This record gives sequence, C-alpha cells and structure tokens, in this order.
Amino acid sequence: MLERTARPLAGLWNGIAAVTTAFYKALGAPGKLFQDFMNGSWLGHALHPVLVDVVVGGATCAVLLDLLRVIFGVDGLDGGNAWVVGLVFLAALGSILTGLTDFKDTATGDERNVAGLHGLINIVGSLAFGLSAWQRLVGAHDAAFWPLIIGYLIISLGAFIGGHVVFKYGYMVNFNAFAKGRRAREFTPVLPVAELPQNAPTKASLGTTSLVLVRRGDVVYALKETCSHAGGPLSKGTLKDDLIICPWHQSHFRLSDGAVRHGPASSRQVRYLARVNAGQVEVQGPFD
Ligand code: FES
Repeated sequence: MLERTARPLAGLWNGIAAVTTAFYKALGAPGKLFQDFMNGSWLGHALHPVLVDVVVGGATCAVLLDLLRVIFGVDGLDGGNAWVVGLVFLAALGSILTGLTDFKDTATGDERNVAGLHGLINIVGSLAFGLSAWQRLVGAHDAAFWPLIIGYLIISLGAFIGGHVVFKYGYMVNFNAFAKGRRAREFTPVLPVAELPQNAPTKASLGTTSLVLVRRGDVVYALKETCSHAGGPLSKGTLKDDLIICPWHQSHFRLSDGAVRHGPASSRQVRYLARVNAGQVEVQGPFD
C-alpha cells in the first residue's frame, strides 16, 4: 500500500536526491565533512533518528501540556510550552536536513520511494510545528493549539512510514549486522599471493564470505567485501592513502581496521587479520 502510494512520485524522489547530491558536491571538501556530520559517521549510527526522538518526544509533551491548558484550564503553561514547541520545530529542521542527507544515497526503487513519502509527510508536519511555534511567539497561544495537534498527527503517520522503511528495507542499518562473515579461527588460505597484485583491491573468498584484499609491499589488508552502508562491492572500489573507497556512495574505510573515515556509512567495516605464508594469503577473524 505504501509502495503503491509512493511509486507514482518516483521522479520527484529521484530529483530531490539529485539536487541534494549536487548541493553537497558544490560545497567541495567542507561539504564532505558536513555530510559526515549529518550522516552520523562520527556517531557510529545515523544522526537522523536521534533528532527524530526529540521531535516525537517533545511534540508528545507539548500536546499533553496544551491539553491540560485548553481542556482542563491549567494556568501558567503558556510560556513553558512555547519553549517546548520551539525546540520541537528546531529538531524537526535538523531531522529534515539529516534525513535529506541520508536520502540522497538511498537505493532507487521502492526503498527510495517510501523514504521520500516519509520525508514529504514529515516536512508538512514540521511546517505545522513551525506555525504553532510562531503563533506562541506572538502570544496567540490558543490559536497555536490546532497546528500543534495537526502537526502531531501528521508526523505520527510520517514516523510510522519511517519505521516501515527501516524495518522492511533495513534503511541506514549496518548491512553486515546479520551476516558478519564466516569466522576463521585459525589462519586460513584464501588466495595464492601471486594472484594478488600490489595496490589493487582484489576479491577473494573465505567459504561463502567475499573479502577484499589489498597488498602493500609485504603487508596485506583484508576486509569483508560487502560495504556496511548498503552492500556495495569494495573490491570494485578505489584506494586513497590508507583508505578504500566504496564505488556506490564513496564511503571511506581505513584498510587497517575498517574504521569509517567518511560516510554515508556509519558502521565499521568487518575486518580480518591477513598474512602471507607459504605462497598463500591467509586470513583469520573477523574480530569486530
Ligand atoms: S554501499 Fe553506499 S557507500 Fe558503500
């Protein structure tokens, strides 16, 4: 049902993603750092749901205070609730910006369509919060009641759809959370070292788990090949200094330990220990 509703607007969702991508590109290197901040790459998971918690929790509190004020005639709540609604509106603006940043790197198709619908509904709800905050600022506390209630109903629907995107599509969830990869308790051969060129990401297999190997002199690095952001193939990525860059949305991971250096990924890449022994590249792990 949600998919059927969102699908006809696929052109709009793709356009919004393209404009957001162009915006970040135009900002250059500072844009990359800003994007990292908005994605939550520094936090270890997405920043967007953190702000959404403030919006939903704050709006619930504001609705309760307004109901006490309007229905039960409790005095002295006007000023305090104006601050709460103001905070809700600011958090909603942050949620929109972080949401757009995540959204630009969404897989096209139903995942992007439903995520777009979620965002559009929440933008409308946020405007209602903005109106309610403005009315309270100019002293129209009674008139501010209905925009708050309407905004609350709208973002409740938007939050439901947001949950659908996360739980059905695994949106912005660590792609390797449920399949870390086969564990090698002892060092296990995965590729003859003669087949591993210098400084070129190379795919190898540990049983059913695909790895990306990078050889630098006598040192070999091994990470799980599937990108933690959305499953991109790191063996088709590029190298820059001590980092490997995913070909799909350019997340940067440190070769030595899989740490995220640039998003949109926020989860560390699964890494293995690697060594060269008797003409073979051997790996052990993973350890994370
Ligand atoms: S799949 Fe998105 S950065 Fe790798």
